[in-house]
Amino acid sequence: TLRMADPEQFMPVRTVVPGVSERTEAAVLKALELARSQRWQSAVEMGQTLGLPIPMWSGQQASKQATPVRSARGGTRRILEGAVPSVPSTISSVVPSAGEPAPARQRKPAWPWVLGGVALLVLVVGFMVKGIELPATGAIPPTIKAAAQATSIPHPTATPRSAMATMPIKVAILAPMSGDVAIFGESTKNGAMVAIEEWNAKGGLLGRQIEAIVEDSQCSAEPAVSAANKVISQDGVKYIIGEVCSSASIPVSEITAAKGVLQISPTSTNPQVTVDQAGNAKPTVFRACFIDPFQGTVGAQFALTELGAKTAAVLLDQGNDYVRGLAEYFREAFEAGGGQVVVWETYTAEDSDFSAILTKVKDASPDILYLPDYYSTVNLIAAQAREVGITATMLGGDGWDSSQLDRAAVDGGYHTNHYSAADPRPIVQEWVKKYTAKYGAEPDALATLAYDAANVLFQGIEKAGKDDPLAVAKAMEGMTFSVVSGEITFDAQHNPIKSAAILQVKDGQVNFVTIIAP
Ligand code: PHE
Repeated sequence: TLRMADPEQFMPVRTVVPGVSERTEAAVLKALELARSQRWQSAVEMGQTLGLPIPMWSGQQASKQATPVRSARGGTRRILEGAVPSVPSTISSVVPSAGEPAPARQRKPAWPWVLGGVALLVLVVGFMVKGIELPATGAIPPTIKAAAQATSIPHPTATPRSAMATMPIKVAILAPMSGDVAIFGESTKNGAMVAIEEWNAKGGLLGRQIEAIVEDSQCSAEPAVSAANKVISQDGVKYIIGEVCSSASIPVSEITAAKGVLQISPTSTNPQVTVDQAGNAKPTVFRACFIDPFQGTVGAQFALTELGAKTAAVLLDQGNDYVRGLAEYFREAFEAGGGQVVVWETYTAEDSDFSAILTKVKDASPDILYLPDYYSTVNLIAAQAREVGITATMLGGDGWDSSQLDRAAVDGGYHTNHYSAADPRPIVQEWVKKYTAKYGAEPDALATLAYDAANVLFQGIEKAGKDDPLAVAKAMEGMTFSVVSGEITFDAQHNPIKSAAILQVKDGQVNFVTIIAP
């Protein structure tokens, strides 16, 4: 199917299964010829050319007995038993006989070849026997399996729209669905799903429905990399919304940049997400949020000018790209504006007792305690800070944005954010109403930016007019998007230039304080 609908994506067999011989590849390509007259006229003809024993082809009759088969994705499909030779039952009959010319690379065991060959034959027969679905066997490489799952053969003279044209466009959502910050994942998924449902309701993308594939990438590097590899190579995804956290989005961006998959992170604010070591934009990687040099500066200036702060303590997890970056940008701006960072202490993600570093904060008695971590850690530190009697005004970043922030522990504190549900602009209020009706709670920044990121991506795909990540990236570079969190145009590094909101946590409420433009 890829051969017709998406020729650029069509890969020669030997790039998928390197062990396949030229002869086998040629045979498969012949089977995939667009013109029927140029294909093999029968499976027997192909089998003979490949030197396979005749009985395998002639001895079997389609029994028309349908057997349910559970596919990898959990759906039950039915196959006609007997019409397609099943892999295990034919292995023994295709082991090369003495008549098979011995290839030069005899030292390697023959079975992987044979298995590959059989898998390809299964595929080819599937192409020839119209309407029959193939069993998802482990021996068939994923790309081929995906092609084989098309239920009908495109007829060159009939409808030019092949099955591919009606197959959904897959979009992966990579977010933490478990662990410490699972609530980030929940919001992100919810926000993106609203966009997907809305687009599908009005006809989808390029006339195709959007299929969401949600993976739990856990806001950390390793699971995020596995999730990205999984959706790209197993599911054939070309578009990724995610990850949420910078420490996960950065390694994922290495993969998407290398593979030409379009990635848009809704909320990862560390600069390294979209740029490489040399500072150049990764061609297919974007984000829907501002970046931390801006966010840190906004926090510092607010502390200096609005709160009249002179001194600050900064506590940070050095192993977290987001936290470390934001702490550094805050310090730089705070000192540049005449402030003094009197305590700079690090901790690790595993720590739960912060008393040693909090004692240092208490002794220094700063005006501001800057906590640039996620709510889960901020909750722990803030509660312990209260216990030791610290009275500094707490200040943080977007990581505080959560319904699970301990509002009592950070009472009186402020944080920078991407958006406020209290923003009176009609586009915001409509969104808040729609989301609240659906999920029973106001959308946080994560839900809102996931909705925005999905809309940016989908508008990009529509504008490009084709299902091709590179073309979509090019289109996105030149567009202006009016989305809930503001107006987005991308700079040379694929970062939107956007305002930040400042919110205050007071008496159990989170109140909108001000908007700060870049
Ligand atoms: N900006 C954070 C990061 O880069 C993620 C985040 C965004 C968390 C918004 C909460 C709210 O890791």
